[in-house]
Amino acid sequence: MVVEIYYFTGTGNSLVVAKEIAQKTNGKLISIPSLVDKEIITTNAEMMGIIFPVYFASNGCSGIPLIVEIFLNKLENIGSKYIFAICTHSGMPGSTIENLSNIVKSRGGKLAIGFAVKTYNNAPSVLEKLKKSIFHKESKKNKDAKTQKRHQKVFNDWKKKFQIICEHIHNRRKDLFETRSTLAKVLFAPFLFLLIKPLFKHRYKRLSNSSNLPFKEIVPLSDKSYQYNEKCNGCGVCTKVCPVNNICMINERPVWQHHCENCFACYVWCPNEAIYGDIVSYAERYHHPDVVISDMIKQSKII
Ligand SMILES: Cc1cc2nc3c(=O)[nH]c(=O)nc-3n(C[C@H](O)[C@H](O)[C@H](O)COP(=O)(O)O)c2cc1C
Repeated sequence: MVVEIYYFTGTGNSLVVAKEIAQKTNGKLISIPSLVDKEIITTNAEMMGIIFPVYFASNGCSGIPLIVEIFLNKLENIGSKYIFAICTHSGMPGSTIENLSNIVKSRGGKLAIGFAVKTYNNAPSVLEKLKKSIFHKESKKNKDAKTQKRHQKVFNDWKKKFQIICEHIHNRRKDLFETRSTLAKVLFAPFLFLLIKPLFKHRYKRLSNSSNLPFKEIVPLSDKSYQYNEKCNGCGVCTKVCPVNNICMINERPVWQHHCENCFACYVWCPNEAIYGDIVSYAERYHHPDVVISDMIKQSKII
């Protein structure tokens, strides 16, 4: 059986999940950014796994990163394949799996099963920013111990869930989606549309310095809020880890090209912690400890 595992990652969580699933299913790991420039995407694989982070589900978007949506919309001849998906998230995956299932359906395929795996929180949240300002005086030792404990819990939970997911894949289980229930959708809707969505849009509009564009068009421009400080030594790692080739080096300094995925790779993988900005100040400078820069370079579109 030919198995292919397609992945996209910014901070490494989805890559670790993809690697472990690929190992268990004897699947070939394929980077989504390496494919998206193709006109159509076809495969001989009988089983396909799609693994990616949730972006912006908590503000009422599809939850699927733009690049993953482009990939899905280029898939051809997938009608006979067993397809499963895993999204990694930090607590609010919303209806991401259901939305992905709809796109797969529109391409003539069927999503058999879809899971949402909770990972360490690196979402750009207002709460995180608030915590940073309240606890900024906390000692580094204390913070590290807390972070370590939270990591351990996430990793232990993933180990348990991994076994369950693998069993379902092995048994070719169908029609099992981890997605927001109808009741949650109804209860959440007013809060989402009246409060969260406008707040988010306002923030991204400010970050991208753009006027009345739809949210999907604002997101790629939000790299206008990225900057570098005096710690930047022109090493160029940011250009290599960017999965969508969105950073050029000009006079040995990074220049963002405004087709950003918002994956935070440049921010979290900068060896000198030189990249900063309003947008990333809402998030922690975290990447998965088992992923290294060379893994990120392999994913990149340029390779
Ligand atoms: C721009 C951005 C938006 C995000 N939005 C959400 C969200 O709406 N809901 C959620 O649960 N997690 C959200 N997250 C958290 C990521 O889904 C989560 O950390 C994921 O595991 C990151 O995967 P990666 O390490 O493979 O890049 C967001 C992260 C980023 C960077």
